[in-house]
Amino acid sequence: MVDEIQMGKTRLKIQQGDIVEAGTEALVNAANSALAGGSGVDGAIHRVAGPELYKLTRVFGGCPTGSAVITGAGRFPLPTRYIIHAVGPMYNLMDENNRSRLLASVYRKSLELADEKQVKSIAFPAISTGVYGYPITQAAPIAIQTTLDYLTQTPQTSLEQVLFILFSAHDFEVYQQVLGAVG
Ligand code: APR
Repeated sequence: MVDEIQMGKTRLKIQQGDIVEAGTEALVNAANSALAGGSGVDGAIHRVAGPELYKLTRVFGGCPTGSAVITGAGRFPLPTRYIIHAVGPMYNLMDENNRSRLLASVYRKSLELADEKQVKSIAFPAISTGVYGYPITQAAPIAIQTTLDYLTQTPQTSLEQVLFILFSAHDFEVYQQVLGAVG
């Protein structure tokens, strides 16, 4: 099983755990299009960041599915300085074509936002695979391949570390298998 691979200057690593403990410069939040907060990753990140995170997201007036916005990290301790609020697709709301395209675009947009701020490390949850119902076995290859494609197409990236944080042992194993297949 593979837990990490090197892509140019960037290390891709898979870890099981809680995203609020990732300790990366940017954390990706699995948000909704209203940026209204919620449960899962959204609940965990807002709990640590504190109420000011809502003030930081309110200015955007929402975020379309497949896109993301970047804000400060509220009360998170350094080195975490940014939260990237990523809005993944709801699996049952759209056909295969649209949901896979939108899931890929939310990973790409998150990476683009991180590079705009010259971020060196970022942690992703398994976007859309909880409340939004995207099967992890279908979402994992999209998450990893989109990230690999981005890094191949963006040799000037500032990213030195990309973490994929999985909450359950099962999800961690699915990501390991996918990384092993592409690594
Ligand atoms: N750390 C890491 N991963 C977590 C955590 C955590 N603290 N909590 C949940 N997860 C995992 C879930 O097990 C799932 O695999 O993150 C993945 C994404 O699950 P959700 O957080 O439910 O996100 P998503 O499926 O994208 O749904 C987004 O849920 O919380 C609401 O406001 C949010 O409406 C939005 C929707």
